[in-house]
Amino acid sequence: MTERTAAGRGTGSETALLEVRDLAKHFAVPGGTVRSVDGVSFDIRAGETLGLVGESGCGKTTTGRTIVRLYEPTGGSVRFMGQDISRLSQHGMLPWRKRMQMIFQDPYASLNPRMTVGDIVMEPMVIHGFPRDERADRVRHLLRMVGLNSEHANRYPHEFSGGQRQRIGIARALAVEPEFIVCDEPISALDVSIQAQIVNMLEDLQDELGLTYLFIAHDLSMVKHISDRIAVMYLGNIVELAESGELYNNPQHPYTRSLLSAIPIPDPDLSDARRRISLSGEIPSPLNPPSGCKFHTRCPDARPECAEADTALRELRPGHLCGCPMA
Ligand SMILES: Nc1ncnc2c1ncn2[C@@H]1O[C@H](COP(=O)(O)OP(=O)(O)O)[C@@H](O)[C@H]1O
Ligand SMILES: [Mg+2]
Repeated sequence: MTERTAAGRGTGSETALLEVRDLAKHFAVPGGTVRSVDGVSFDIRAGETLGLVGESGCGKTTTGRTIVRLYEPTGGSVRFMGQDISRLSQHGMLPWRKRMQMIFQDPYASLNPRMTVGDIVMEPMVIHGFPRDERADRVRHLLRMVGLNSEHANRYPHEFSGGQRQRIGIARALAVEPEFIVCDEPISALDVSIQAQIVNMLEDLQDELGLTYLFIAHDLSMVKHISDRIAVMYLGNIVELAESGELYNNPQHPYTRSLLSAIPIPDPDLSDARRRISLSGEIPSPLNPPSGCKFHTRCPDARPECAEADTALRELRPGHLCGCPMA
């Protein structure tokens, strides 16, 4: 995997392809309201990869699904190339859906076992009215593009390994030539030995096709390599957002520091400097989140005023946003 630098690909353009503002998605459940996404704002620039990380249950998948309108937002807005798509009807969304696709976490659950691979990859072309006589050729082309064999079109998902199934899911996402793809933990369910292959392929496809990614992961070690910038999420909010190298070298939020300290470092000197910070307690329930800074109940640096504090993101340095009231 290649490390991305400030001069690397994806950072040349400053134009926002996507502008997410105060996005909220709440679910009514027995016993109250789950505030899964509770006022999230960020831009994703054309051609870049924005990493989105945080522990399981913090709202990453809900954020991705709400952006592409698989979920109706409870509040806030999503602009795609300047157009607010967050209030469009399902019919009005159709031309935008073609431009925004999703790769799912579980390559076993996300492919219909009764459809052939060819039909799975072709389905989006049917929905979006791709010329009928071009579809079969395009399926074969897409399968080759993701490193599969064009003869695989006649087989069924169960005949493939996890990594191959994820390649099928990627071919399906690419079928209608999207500009933006939400990659929802696309490698978390795969063997470590094939994770890098899939990440490298996603990077190559991004360069080749000029794609923009929201790349979701639960741990910082994986997104470091693929992301230009990284947003860290805790209990429905972004708590820190910075360029990838800056976030690693100069983390400002105690939660980001704790996530970083959990990554094993082979160099003993470095690992000494980055002392392991273990968080006390479980993640609180998004049904009844703590007041003020939601992280204060687990924060090693918490002060009494954190329970009342405003955690709106502040720009501590150019491009480095942090919601810690003490930073
Ligand atoms: N359809 C739903 N109905 C009720 N609660 C949900 C639903 N989807 C997600 N949640 C809750 O929202 C929170 C965030 O979930 P999710 O977005 O899947 O987190 P992540 O992807 O970061 O693991 C969790 O507490 C989860 O239980
Ligand atoms: Mg998830």
